[in-house]
Amino acid sequence: MTSTSTSASAGGGSASPVPPGRPRQSMIEIDQLHKFYGPFEALKGISFTVRSGEVVGFLGPNGAGKSTTMKIMTGLMPPTRGSVSIAGHDVLDEPLEVRRAIGYLPEIPPLYPEMTVRDYLSFAAELRGVPRARRRRAVDLALERCGLTHMAQRLVGNLSKGYRQRTGLAQAVIHEPRVLILDEPTVGLDPTQVIEIRGIVRELGEERTVILSSHVLPEVQATCHRVVIINRGLVVADGPMDELLSRESHGGVVASLRRPPEELDPLRQLTAVRQVQRLGEQEFRFFLEPGDDVRERFVAGLANSGYGLIEVRAETATLEEVFRDVVLEEVPA
Ligand SMILES: Nc1ncnc2c1ncn2[C@@H]1O[C@H](COP(=O)(O)OP(=O)(O)OP(=O)(O)O)[C@@H](O)[C@H]1O
Ligand SMILES: [Mg+2]
Repeated sequence: MTSTSTSASAGGGSASPVPPGRPRQSMIEIDQLHKFYGPFEALKGISFTVRSGEVVGFLGPNGAGKSTTMKIMTGLMPPTRGSVSIAGHDVLDEPLEVRRAIGYLPEIPPLYPEMTVRDYLSFAAELRGVPRARRRRAVDLALERCGLTHMAQRLVGNLSKGYRQRTGLAQAVIHEPRVLILDEPTVGLDPTQVIEIRGIVRELGEERTVILSSHVLPEVQATCHRVVIINRGLVVADGPMDELLSRESHGGVVASLRRPPEELDPLRQLTAVRQVQRLGEQEFRFFLEPGDDVRERFVAGLANSGYGLIEVRAETATLEEVFRDVVLEEVPA
């Protein structure tokens, strides 16, 4: 398991690609969350920080604890232990301030099928404390932002899945929250709708702090500045996207050898090598051990191996590879 070596402290990482000119104080602080469901410990000490203006991807396999963490962040469910503060307000001590500060799209949005989209959003605005005089304007703006204006008079129950998801997003932003918590906003959507929702989330994220969970890793790679990966109730990776993807131990190093050995085994024995794949007659992909100077040690070892090193290049990892690295134990050969 490479999890410990690939996790970074939440506050670290000077290379965070948050657009310049934005404030960077922490907006969400999650400290040592534990959650028991009966005897089952779903969260085993989750801690991370999200700074103002960041768009964070919250990843993990099924059952990792993403929805549980998000429900605790919204104050819907208390943790067994640990604390969450949003915009400086503790979710348990100051629930009203927290409700004002966040918009939440749950895994299953609470929609009312017999209402029109407009009436539903107006109702959501009322629930969120938007004053009557400003409600109509708030609804119009949310409709427009989420590409729903032409659907305003439809019954929620008759909407397609994509438009229902947009309606869920619209209710989450109706009161202009500073923080958006989106639990799988693109689940079950077709590729076109995924792209459209991605655009909406990006736009929303221009003025807000966003944390979104997803299983669609290329989506997250395209949308998020930062990634937090959890597995079995623990954080296994946390850092700015570009930093995680460029870490030497993720991604492969492709090398061409003039005189490779017949078997892969001798190549696996080389310095700093964790796993090897054959790509062609003379071409191999090497996955390296964790560590900072592993590429240097690897290349030196390979050059001295007698296999006739003629070319070597590093590949940048995809988020899928990072995910596989920190969540699964082994890189498949
Ligand atoms: N109300 C509950 N009672 C008992 N166990 C629960 C409850 N809610 C969640 N769990 C368990 O807690 C663990 C974490 O669940 P959670 O829904 O947070 O995972 P998740 O990361 O959101 O997964 P998914 O990707 O499938 O949505 C799972 O093992 C789940 O079965
Ligand atoms: Mg979930």
